[in-house]
Amino acid sequence: MGPEDLDQVLKELPIPKDPKVLVGLDTSDDAGVYQLNEEVALVQTVDFFTPIVDDPFTFGQVAVANALSDVYAMGGTPLTGMNLVAFPIKTLPSSILKEILLGGLSKMKEAGVALVGGHTIEDPEIKYGLAVTGIVHPDKILTNAKARVGDKLVLTKPLGTGIISTALKAGMASQEAVRKIVESMVTLNRTAAEWMKKLGAHACTDITGFSFIGHVLEMATASRVGVVIHSGDVPVFPEAVEYAGMGLIPGGAHSNQDFFSCKVEIHSDVQNLLVDIFYDPQTSGGLLISVPSSEAEKLIATLKKEGHGHSSIVGEVVEEPLGKIRLL
Ligand code: CO
Ligand code: CO
Ligand code: CO
Repeated sequence: MGPEDLDQVLKELPIPKDPKVLVGLDTSDDAGVYQLNEEVALVQTVDFFTPIVDDPFTFGQVAVANALSDVYAMGGTPLTGMNLVAFPIKTLPSSILKEILLGGLSKMKEAGVALVGGHTIEDPEIKYGLAVTGIVHPDKILTNAKARVGDKLVLTKPLGTGIISTALKAGMASQEAVRKIVESMVTLNRTAAEWMKKLGAHACTDITGFSFIGHVLEMATASRVGVVIHSGDVPVFPEAVEYAGMGLIPGGAHSNQDFFSCKVEIHSDVQNLLVDIFYDPQTSGGLLISVPSSEAEKLIATLKKEGHGHSSIVGEVVEEPLGKIRLL
């Protein structure tokens, strides 16, 4: 059973229509949005997963930065979080659990998010994440559905966290590579989201498990546009290219490729290893922002000053091929 099968199960649920649900399950967006009144809508999301780094405190930080990202990607402000924890309390010391939760809490503090509860179960495999509630003005929701022809696409973090984590699990990753992905994954998407809002972004999503290509395609489909990507302009961790060349590619990248490749036209000059990285599932990845062309350079210049040094204009929104990506 792959992610697309899970998606199919959700699509078959008889979910009643509710006019207060401004963004629901039907649009593959980052978070659900529910209107409370004319000024305020709730933004809600949940994410949890197994450790992708060895250090428990760092894992907690990554899990929370990743969960908060879906609220930022919708243009929202996260307010409260609830821990979701699975932990083998009979076989591992509780000090490890404490470190995970302290790591998570440190990111919630940085984001100005209050921890208000949570739930822990006993499980042979550690899992941690967060249910997040935030708010957004109903007129200022940023979905993946409003990219416009002529917009530039900006990506705020390098790709390759899945490949480097796979190398880490195989004992093949350099300390430097791991340091780089950790630094990237614990970075909140908050500042990037603030600037995209100020500069009038039309659409946004964050890059996570469906990979760069999967999330770009979701935006193209929802917005009824096409996308041109300039492969050489897409930021990637150099070590990800190296490890992909050694075959250290996670299973999820193959599923993404099987599922999405029918909607991708690849120019013959594009390096195969780069294409592998474009299908790599990301954890706590960057924002993909569709911004008016006139504001793109300003957004990049600002992001570079504000700690997103790898931000780059990676492509543009076009009319054709509709619902597809052309990789140049
Ligand atoms: Co998302
Ligand atoms: Co999510
Ligand atoms: Co969104």
